[in-house]
Amino acid sequence: MSTLISARNIYREYKVSAGNVSALNGISLDFEEKRFYAIIGRSGSGKSTLLHILGGLDKPTAGEILIEGQDICKLTDEKRSVFRRRYMGFVFQQYNLLDEHNVRDNILMPLSLDHKKPDVIFYNEVINTLGLEGKTKKYPCELSGGEQQRVAIARSVIAKPKLIIADEPTGNLDKKTGEETIALLLECAKKFGQTLIIATHDQELAKKADEIVRIEDGRVV
Ligand SMILES: Nc1ncnc2c1ncn2[C@@H]1O[C@H](COP(=O)(O)OP(=O)(O)OP(=O)(O)O)[C@@H](O)[C@H]1O
Ligand SMILES: [Mg+2]
Repeated sequence: MSTLISARNIYREYKVSAGNVSALNGISLDFEEKRFYAIIGRSGSGKSTLLHILGGLDKPTAGEILIEGQDICKLTDEKRSVFRRRYMGFVFQQYNLLDEHNVRDNILMPLSLDHKKPDVIFYNEVINTLGLEGKTKKYPCELSGGEQQRVAIARSVIAKPKLIIADEPTGNLDKKTGEETIALLLECAKKFGQTLIIATHDQELAKKADEIVRIEDGRVV
């Protein structure tokens, strides 16, 4: 097994009017290729903060995030965005689709931002895997929550990133739809050889992981 991404002694402080909040207090973790990790812990324990930093969406106050030997925290914002689009896919609780773009354009967004042409065969495979045939011309507002999340999953895998980061991906879905959506996310990750890191409050989902990481007060316990 080889390590895909490493967090080295990560700290994150937020400055708020009442002083500083220490969201992460020295987190070190290695994530291996093609494995599924569940990040669990109480509300406010630091899961989202950690995912944002792992995904290069936020910078730590101290520490390193190493991907293939490169510390992504040291890159300029622009280079980090490019890095992010090539290495990572994201799935959020709120789907974060672009309302003014149809399903197809939303899915292809990570490629179009990089001026890349889609691999049509792969695109069709993703659409079929996620059961989105017949939905590609629709707009996000015309879809159910579960359908929107499947579009978000399609978007997260389309650039064939090595890592998929998902923050409570089923938080807005009913139990059954949530389970179906997760099954598809796991199927995609397996099929396309991706490492999956999911923050979740769902014990059943966590049990499916290869490894469970529990966070308490910004520390791994
Ligand atoms: N932008 C921010 N400004 C100030 N404090 C923040 C900010 N974002 C998060 N925090 C604080 O950092 C800590 C960790 O928050 P985080 O969102 O990472 O928790 P979480 O484990 O994802 O919680 P949940 O399960 O509710 O999503 C909390 O104390 C939170 O209040
Ligand atoms: Mg959170």
